[in-house]
Amino acid sequence: MRTRLVTPNCLLWLLVSVCFSLQLKAAPIIEGERSSPVQGDKGMVVTSHFLATEEALKVLQKGGNAVDAAVTAAFALAVTQPRSGNIGGGGFMLISSEQKQEVVAIDYRETAPAAASRDMFLDAEGKVDKMLSRFSHKAAGVPGTVAGLALALGQYGTLTLAETLAPAIRLAEEGFIVTPRFSNGIKQRADRLRQWPSSAAVFLKKDGGFYEPGDRFVQPDLAKTLKRIAERGPDGFYKGETAELIVAEMQRGGGLISHADLAGYQAKMRKPAAGTYRGYDIYSMSPPSSGGAHIVQILNLLESHPIGYLGHNSAATIHLMAEAMKRAYADRAEYLGDSDFVEVPLAGITSKSYAAELNKQISRNHVTPSPAIKPGKPLAFESDETTHFSVVDQYGNAVSNTYTINFSYGNHIVVEGAGFLLNNEMDDFSAKPGVPNAYGLLGGETNKIEPGKRMLSSMSPTIVKRKGKNFLVTGSPGGSRIITTTLQVIMNVIDHGLNIQAAVNAPRIHHQWLPDEIRIEQGISPDTIALLERQGHVVKQKSAMGAIQSILIDPDGRMLGAADPRRSTSSAMGF
Ligand code: DON
Repeated sequence: MRTRLVTPNCLLWLLVSVCFSLQLKAAPIIEGERSSPVQGDKGMVVTSHFLATEEALKVLQKGGNAVDAAVTAAFALAVTQPRSGNIGGGGFMLISSEQKQEVVAIDYRETAPAAASRDMFLDAEGKVDKMLSRFSHKAAGVPGTVAGLALALGQYGTLTLAETLAPAIRLAEEGFIVTPRFSNGIKQRADRLRQWPSSAAVFLKKDGGFYEPGDRFVQPDLAKTLKRIAERGPDGFYKGETAELIVAEMQRGGGLISHADLAGYQAKMRKPAAGTYRGYDIYSMSPPSSGGAHIVQILNLLESHPIGYLGHNSAATIHLMAEAMKRAYADRAEYLGDSDFVEVPLAGITSKSYAAELNKQISRNHVTPSPAIKPGKPLAFESDETTHFSVVDQYGNAVSNTYTINFSYGNHIVVEGAGFLLNNEMDDFSAKPGVPNAYGLLGGETNKIEPGKRMLSSMSPTIVKRKGKNFLVTGSPGGSRIITTTLQVIMNVIDHGLNIQAAVNAPRIHHQWLPDEIRIEQGISPDTIALLERQGHVVKQKSAMGAIQSILIDPDGRMLGAADPRRSTSSAMGF
């Protein structure tokens, strides 16, 4: 007689464990009771400013596709939300094209000017001069937004650039009504904006007073700049009068961007970083962003743990997330950079086998102090104030776009006569190994400053697919917190079954290896914090993280839009 190795009880327990570990649970709940997303059948737009949402929605209603609407939203945000919406910065756009059955990434990240050099932000004593890297003309990288939007539209849109610019030009010429958020933003940064006459002329009234809620805000110089793009395409920005104005601004303030830098700027099409999580396909931004690499890596690390069973924002779940995040951010500091300049082991970092290897270091109970964590060895596993908006159209296309001038108001310098702010993205390079950037992120050789190189980003426009169909379109601002913010919305939907609005609203956590602390938002239970602290974690409650603008498409094709309440002007609109 053969020995029975398994009893019926054993079988039942095995089944339960397998179910938990594979997360075999009902499809995510789509409509919540506490917080309901906006619904649509034919199109959905979610941005951080309702005027941009409105203009993009009109494009969809007239039969335009998601890329037409996205480009319209991007230009409208450059006018209505100039602290982050921009033509003076750069970003990344992920496009899921139904017709071409592909997900592509448009990289329009800024580049270092040709005259930039590795030690350009070091003072005589070899210390990083933060004022120089953040608030000077030298802080500006060569802007990529106009080239990127034109490339996306040319490849995947149906409208002309002039058509997508028309609403932005009208909003700049006729003005729009100031919201409390708009007015407060300027008041918070008034001291820095006042330092530059060109910035004061745009953001303050003639008598130096503030724009208050209810006032009309008009931007005639910006309208003219946008018209030049409408008339001449990208050449209307990178050549001719606008280029003259940018170069003149650089010469006045000791900046580096030259005519050759502008004329030579190129947006690039890239293959997104890709992975899977519990049967869903994840597409997010590849280098020069670190976003996609580490979202996929952290998901890979967590996939073997029964996250849904352990519970949303429970101490057990937060512990595992923090342990996974630490490892990912340690790798970020070591391996990530512009893949046109350095070898980035993307396939290794995003591989399941590398995650399995790293997972051996992660214990359910034990906290590994960050100093004890060193970057892993993904090379052995080769097998690859910002704003976000998401758009879905009636043809099955989706766009996820994050773009930025880095800080709110970038380097705070408006190009005189051109009416737009410049970025301070050069601070995203590693100015000196071991010295953190504005987001506390460390970097080294792979992210050192080199002429023409793109500075490493965390921006993570993401599209999740299920069985070949777009399922979740999401992304966020928030510097180093972008990766973990986006990660948590994905997990909130897939692991915890939250409806998309609840997934966006839920309090978030963040760990970036160094500093060695779990940063949390208001709303994590004190009991949970106590459990984490008892385990050995340092937990710090700080301000809200990110502003994630998301769309979920349910199995019946309904589009559910969820704007992030962390930004009061955020809005979702569908039809
Ligand atoms: O590219 C990056 O990672 C940063 N420059 C993003 C900055 C950002 O998200 C600021 N917004 N809140």
